[in-house]
Amino acid sequence: GAPVKVNIGKVEPGQQMVAEWRGQPVFIVRRTDEILANLGKIHDKMADPESKDSAQPTYVDPQNRSIKPELLVLVGLCTHLGCSPSFRPEVAPADLGADWVGGYFCPCHGSKYDLAGRVYKAQPAPKNLPVPPHSYESDDVIIVG
Ligand code: FES
Repeated sequence: GAPVKVNIGKVEPGQQMVAEWRGQPVFIVRRTDEILANLGKIHDKMADPESKDSAQPTYVDPQNRSIKPELLVLVGLCTHLGCSPSFRPEVAPADLGADWVGGYFCPCHGSKYDLAGRVYKAQPAPKNLPVPPHSYESDDVIIVG
């Protein structure tokens, strides 16, 4: 499939937009400083914290999993059986527990991911959500693919 241009100019801090690439959902999140700080706190709860065994381009930071720290780009398909996880940015919601600092929750079998798309330990999903190849045409335009 051809690369896709996505304008991210309207994505507010803490919010997600969903684009499409090769028929797959692509999640794009503008992370806040608080979200980025929380990633470090839950590092040791992740199955593959530096994505050594997960799909991401070499030019992406291993822990934040992004080119620019604030902008996360993920293929939005669970690495278990391919459902699309829900964006759950809130900290400690009633249903996901006090340890939860925001992330993705897969409705099919309950896999949990953080806001770098890293899967928590002992989930049905074996790997982190993939980071697709992408680049910046400008501050507001990402090319996916
Ligand atoms: Fe996501 Fe099974 S498809 S947990």
